[in-house]
Amino acid sequence: MENAAPLASVAEVAEAIARVDTIVDLEQLRVQWLGKKGHLTRAMQGLAGLDPEQRRARGAELNQQKNAIQDLLEQRRAEIDQQVLERRLASESIDVTLPGRNAVQGALHPVRQTLDWIEDYFARLGFDVADGPELEDDFHNFTALNIPEDHPARAMHDTFYLEDGRVLRTHTSPVQVRYLAEHQAPLRMIATGRVYRRDSDLTHTPMFHQVEGLYLDEGASFADLRGLLADFLQEFFGSSSLPVRFRPSYFPFTEPSAEVDVGCVICNGEGCRVCKNTGWLEVLGCGMVHPAVLEMAKVDQEQFTGFAFGLGVERLTMLRYGIHDLRLFFENDLRFLRQFA
Ligand code: PHE
Repeated sequence: MENAAPLASVAEVAEAIARVDTIVDLEQLRVQWLGKKGHLTRAMQGLAGLDPEQRRARGAELNQQKNAIQDLLEQRRAEIDQQVLERRLASESIDVTLPGRNAVQGALHPVRQTLDWIEDYFARLGFDVADGPELEDDFHNFTALNIPEDHPARAMHDTFYLEDGRVLRTHTSPVQVRYLAEHQAPLRMIATGRVYRRDSDLTHTPMFHQVEGLYLDEGASFADLRGLLADFLQEFFGSSSLPVRFRPSYFPFTEPSAEVDVGCVICNGEGCRVCKNTGWLEVLGCGMVHPAVLEMAKVDQEQFTGFAFGLGVERLTMLRYGIHDLRLFFENDLRFLRQFA
């Protein structure tokens, strides 16, 4: 049996405990003194070899030491826990009086805003909002719209051709053809989206947006077309007295065809750079759907007539907001875009 090991005084242990400042080190001290093989435990085991008188006195002493050390350990543990907590609170504290971080607010692109406005307007009049592919086949982009191969009207469209013969659609009119294949008259639809032409200068970009409209009904007339578009343009530009005029024009897929002008919204018809001193701005093309198109779409022409129109979204947006340079739409300069937030 081992003899009671010479013990350090409680004061010495207290000093050692006071010096540690992590729970891990403290635990090491505890094991060193109170663990199964700790100094005190071994000293207690040594009691067995003493005579009863000595054993009692020494036992009481060791017990006192053990309690004292236990108290010291517990106290120190509480202190360390408190310190850890305080350090954490300090490092994680939040000053709720600091000004908040501003959430960055995005905004819709002006072209998107115009598209939304137009879709909304025609949806309220019962028009279905449709779309079609930007990669189009020759048939839908041209042939079914009464633009057969070798037709000079093909030259009006500076087309991007793919190697397989498909094209980047040059207008949204092919959506008319697709829509007619799936819907029976009477019908009203608009189609919006990107179109592409090999064209790039101050007033043309190779990609721009169009809105297409198609209306088929019994007795649908040019007067209906005129009324619809005049109301639309006056509402769009926010002036019920805005002059609107229809000029005879030509499109292969409408007959008769017209181009529509509004009184220049920049100079109120006085004449300026934007309207090239004419006082008028051309804003869309339209006409009664050509019999050849209705024929190809198998529409009963005894019963139904119809009209169609197409417009450029960038152009309308520029006129509405007084934007003079088309390229601003596609440069994504935030200083420009933020003005439409
Ligand atoms: N598709 C014609 C264009 O891009 C516009 C148009 C559409 C004209 C419908 C008449 C009817 O120029």
